[in-house]
Amino acid sequence: MVAVLRSVIRGVGAHLPKRIVSNEDLSKIVDTSDAWIQERSGIVNRHIADETEKTSDLGAAAAKQALVRAGIDPIDIDLIVCATATPDRTFPATAVRIQSMLGVTKGAAFDVQAVCSGFVYGLTIADNFLKTGQSKRALVIGAETFSRILDWSDRSTCVLFGDGAGAVVLEAQPQHGTRNDRGILATRLRSDGRYEDLLYVDGGAGSTKTVGHLRMNGREVFRHAIQKISGVIEETLVETGYAADEIDLFIPHQANKRILDGIAKKLGVAPEKIVMTLHKHGNTSAASIPLALNEAFEAHRVKEGSLILMEAMGGGFTWGAVLARW
Ligand code: UT7
Repeated sequence: MVAVLRSVIRGVGAHLPKRIVSNEDLSKIVDTSDAWIQERSGIVNRHIADETEKTSDLGAAAAKQALVRAGIDPIDIDLIVCATATPDRTFPATAVRIQSMLGVTKGAAFDVQAVCSGFVYGLTIADNFLKTGQSKRALVIGAETFSRILDWSDRSTCVLFGDGAGAVVLEAQPQHGTRNDRGILATRLRSDGRYEDLLYVDGGAGSTKTVGHLRMNGREVFRHAIQKISGVIEETLVETGYAADEIDLFIPHQANKRILDGIAKKLGVAPEKIVMTLHKHGNTSAASIPLALNEAFEAHRVKEGSLILMEAMGGGFTWGAVLARW
């Protein structure tokens, strides 16, 4: 007898702009060094979109790869959620643009704005559509062109971010309703607007009528990150009854190597279980988790039955965690 519907991950894909910008390249435009960037953040390179590449181009390319790997025709997708803080336009939603690029005409498509936590928010929203039977197959995309909102004269932020996209295809499948099921097992979302001035963009359609630039008090964001993220992770573990050492793959938002190592240490996750792409991609905001998941998939680190923990924190603050079995 069918007990529950779960959102099973059927495929993953990613797309990065071709142009790679190194720490060395950045040291020619701002007063920084490869040594400082690596020591403080762990970042070495990042991909930067050229003028012709939009967020939707990156997102659609990632989605196409995920669909091919899932063996699912785009016309069978009935929900597209695109997590992005750098939409092509203020409206329509980038998800709707991607919907048309994929030739999808049914179901619903919309953007989610939770900055770096966007992919975790998007997964949680899609999971709720799927497990209630409202949609059958969803694309959840994290796509960003953060290079467009960086102040390239501000060394404290411009060295940290990059562009890219990743996507997963989720399908509602009947499961037994136990923690051994495949699919999304537990999700937690949090936000707290009291911290909005620690990480924000200083413009917007409804205020300055400009796009604005990213501003961050990195030291303060860092101070909150480990505690807040560990809290939601622990909640997903308590809900499912798993211990941290039972996690097969830890796929965190890629903001800072010191944060990732700190969370893994606090929780007791072995270092070899952490998927780290930060050195190659920088912080790609909503794209960083699906990019890392894709990298783990391509390296054959993801196997059927793998227990995967994803987590993120970003502007707002927003934060959250998703525990899923591949
Ligand atoms: O994805 C959303 C969430 N975001 C995050 O999680 C980011 C969290 N924060 C961080 O990752 C770290 O705070 C940073 C990597 C942003 C900065 O590292 P930090 O160890 O907190 O450095 P800091 O901001 O305290 O700056 C230390 C020094 C300062 O100089 P003084 O005041 O000590 O003289 C900065 O002016 O480093 C200076 N600095 C730089 N020096 C060389 C700041 N940026 C640079 C730079 N190159 N690019």
